[in-house]
Amino acid sequence: MVASGSMLTISQALIALIVSFLIMQFLKLRQASRHLPPGPIPLPVVGNLLQLHFHLHRDFLMKLAKIHGDIFTLWFGWTPIIVLNGFHAVKDGLTAHPEEVSGRAVSMFFRVIEKGKGIIFSNGRTWKQQRRFGVMTLRHLGMGKKGLEYWVQEELIIALVEKPLDPCLPLFHSVSNVICAVVFGYRFPSEDKNFHRLLKATETLFRFTESLGHHLYELAPHIIHHLPGPHKKALSAYDVLNSFAKMEITRHLERGIPDKPQDFIDFYLVEMEKVSDSATCSYINNLAHTIVDLFLAGSETTATTLYWSLLYMVKVQQELDAVLGSSQLICYEDRKKMPYTNAVIHEIQRFSNIIPVGLPRVCAKNTMLLGFPLAKGTTIFPNIGSVLYDPEQWETPRQFNPGHFLDKDGNFVNQKAFLPFSAGHRVCLGELLARTELFIFFSNLLRAFTFRLPEGVKQVNIEPILAGTWQPHPYGICAVPR
Ligand code: HEM
Repeated sequence: MVASGSMLTISQALIALIVSFLIMQFLKLRQASRHLPPGPIPLPVVGNLLQLHFHLHRDFLMKLAKIHGDIFTLWFGWTPIIVLNGFHAVKDGLTAHPEEVSGRAVSMFFRVIEKGKGIIFSNGRTWKQQRRFGVMTLRHLGMGKKGLEYWVQEELIIALVEKPLDPCLPLFHSVSNVICAVVFGYRFPSEDKNFHRLLKATETLFRFTESLGHHLYELAPHIIHHLPGPHKKALSAYDVLNSFAKMEITRHLERGIPDKPQDFIDFYLVEMEKVSDSATCSYINNLAHTIVDLFLAGSETTATTLYWSLLYMVKVQQELDAVLGSSQLICYEDRKKMPYTNAVIHEIQRFSNIIPVGLPRVCAKNTMLLGFPLAKGTTIFPNIGSVLYDPEQWETPRQFNPGHFLDKDGNFVNQKAFLPFSAGHRVCLGELLARTELFIFFSNLLRAFTFRLPEGVKQVNIEPILAGTWQPHPYGICAVPR
């Protein structure tokens, strides 16, 4: 009796302790929220994660913005996340004080593998140097004889045949091969074993970023790191890419820099010669990470947009025939003669919105964001999807409508809310390469082939599925030579 009585007291005391701990934490959260933008009430331990179903979804964030305004706070556990929503908040938030919001929030997993190097997941001085190098190098490559466009055109000759085929892989292969050509100076034959290892590794790593495995890793990185699980596969995928990049850098160093640098590594090494000898080692180390970043950021994104684009077409082909006749390969400059085709490509990017909620930023210093004081280190999510679907900026935001980019006379018009590459100091580094690839691949493919659904298939499913980026459901398509 006595024992069960004291047991009861212990469990009651324990419950009382937990309840008062939760109440204390709840009050602490309320206190911490006082100076932050408004938002849904957070619970102790989980914050708003339950409401969000552990996931940031463009449309759910847009709904929250209707209640709390275009800048609001969500809590991931104990961490506040500031969400920017709609064109004005995202554009002003990222560009009014661009330097102050130019940090990158980095998950534990990417901290472990990227070690603060490269471009996407680096911060501070390293990021500034690497980004400057990256931008300069891509610019040099674009201007050279073997410019970006040359590589894209050369890559275009892919084997599409009349029988139904899912174009997902051929597109991913071609776009990745453009990165190989740009970075290493050569493309791989399609059956090359190394090429397939690189592709597999890029895909594994990319898929991991949006998986449950990544979220679990973040909860207890020090423990999970040592357990078996999907993160092990992702870690070794990173090693495959990083080791290959290092091998190529060594090959370039042994060969020496040619008089006329040919590829990203060459140009990078030329730039590197200008820095002090003591910094050389760190630059080379960063280069390997930057190369992996280019694969991660530059292959899946462009290939997915092209994958979406083949789902749509016909009118484009009429314009291509009318304007170009049967002349040689279409080049980037030709977009000016083809306003409809250009508008369709823009609308595909807007409508398919492959990176729904942009990459997280972090305040690089204390700042005032749209009237709210934010401390250095606060995470910001610019909801890019809410800009591309902003009802105040687009006539029919939830309908595919190339008219968004055409005036009444059919001329192409740029739209200020077209921000699929984001804005501010960390705007996508590969924007020009991506735009060139999208235009050249898309227009030349549509000129060479008519795309048809396989016999018996009547419907196209344009609901997206989340697989790193927002992708179409796998589909088969017949490419009939025209
Ligand atoms: C359709 C294709 C693409 C889309 C929609 C896209 C979109 C984006 C977005 C939204 C960001 C985040 C910017 C921010 O922090 O606010 C980004 C960053 C980045 N992108 Fe792209 N991208 C594409 C293709 C490419 C290509 C082809 C490359 C390179 C060859 C590339 C390289 C990068 C890099 C290195 C960053 C990190 C920039 C930094 O942190 O400073 N991207 N991209």
